[in-house]
Amino acid sequence: MKFFIDTANIDEIKEAKQLGILDGVTTNPSLMAKVGIKGEEAIREHYRKICELVDGPVSAEVISTDYDSMMAEAKALASIDRRIVVKIPMIPDGVKALSALRDEGIPTNCTLVFSAGQALLAAKAGATYVSPFIGRIDDITWDGIALIEEIVEIYEIQGFETEVLAASIRSARHIVEAAKAGADIVTCPLASIKGLFKHPLTDIGLEKFLRDFRQSQG
Ligand code: G3P
Repeated sequence: MKFFIDTANIDEIKEAKQLGILDGVTTNPSLMAKVGIKGEEAIREHYRKICELVDGPVSAEVISTDYDSMMAEAKALASIDRRIVVKIPMIPDGVKALSALRDEGIPTNCTLVFSAGQALLAAKAGATYVSPFIGRIDDITWDGIALIEEIVEIYEIQGFETEVLAASIRSARHIVEAAKAGADIVTCPLASIKGLFKHPLTDIGLEKFLRDFRQSQG
């Protein structure tokens, strides 16, 4: 399973990269807003910086909602760097754009996916990645991980090549559950990735090993 970081924050990307486990980055308009990037050229420059840091796919989301504007925006984003994957929302014009972008060889990530039916449409339209939002599904007391399982099963049965990218991860436990469910990729906040390290017995065990070593050395 690949690990992406879900952020537009350069320091967080650097920190995840230093851990040696980073395969890519996903962003969205809310994450870009959070780091205070304003204006078309500043946004392009920010994506350029992210791409320089990461040797893997970098998802950049369109903000248009009609087919023609989405296509123009997608091509402009794709021209920034070869690592750019264009994030397209799961709406009818978005599905149309996914299929046209596949024909043009531009990689895509279909976002805002909350059902198996939507994931089926995204794969049928040739999306490179599909992003089911598991945390937001859990938020409304449905089961986000069950959705990942369902999509993985459908894609396997049907032989779709679209990769399942578990998004809206809220905890280290979500990452483990997404891995069990067969997700190809998880995209996570840095805190959830760091949460994977934590176990009190590791801390207690390490402290004891070091104490015993120090005592044995006098
Ligand atoms: O980038 C899409 C997704 O990961 C958003 O997560 O936490 O805003 O639901 P969240």
